[in-house]
Amino acid sequence: MPERDASAGAQDPPTFTPPLGTGDTEDYDRAIRIWTRELRWRGAMLDLLAPCAGETIADVGCGTGSFAILLKKQHPEVEVIAIDPDAQALDIARNKASRAGVEIDWRQGFADTLPPQDADAVTSSLVFHQVPLAGKRSGLVAMYHALKPGGRLVLADYGRQGGLMRLLFRLTVQRLDGVKDTQPNADGVLPGLIADVASPE
Ligand SMILES: C[S@@+](CC[C@H](N)C(=O)[O-])C[C@H]1O[C@@H](n2cnc3c(N)ncnc32)[C@H](O)[C@@H]1O
Repeated sequence: MPERDASAGAQDPPTFTPPLGTGDTEDYDRAIRIWTRELRWRGAMLDLLAPCAGETIADVGCGTGSFAILLKKQHPEVEVIAIDPDAQALDIARNKASRAGVEIDWRQGFADTLPPQDADAVTSSLVFHQVPLAGKRSGLVAMYHALKPGGRLVLADYGRQGGLMRLLFRLTVQRLDGVKDTQPNADGVLPGLIADVASPE
């Protein structure tokens, strides 16, 4: 699986799988538009998030910025922090935001760089399936700690895949992002991890 370093030059820099895995990041937006019902699921995510005026909302693994930009366009009164380890994806995101005329606080990094209890809501889409199991756990813990008391966590990602969907998942997502990190999602690991993080005892 192609991994990129988050900090060029640092010793043992953290690695991550880029937006389209083995594919070209420049093709990411087109692939999501063609291969997923993007308008539908991003709209459903926004409905679930139910942003309120004055809130701070963080988008972890924002990639090329599509959700952060949609959020800011539809809710200009919300402060949006968008964070991703991938400099190339963030460049694309900044250009898109500038064309859309929206201001977003873009940051390069992982969820653990978010300050504790800073956000009213933390969101993430299509990220955890391509993160190693230990990183899924630590990422969820960091997102949870970034929430103010009573804050909301909204995740959209590939969950348990069965029957035909499992085959399609293998032929598409696992071909691009590899099997090791993605299989736990296909086996349905996320809901249990989220429940553990929300009630650690
Ligand atoms: C498939 S893209 C999803 C982008 C965007 N959220 C969307 O909905 O289109 C996954 C993104 O997660 C980022 N990523 C990979 N590992 C990560 C990690 N451990 N923590 C945060 N982001 C990560 C990648 O750089 C990539 O931009």
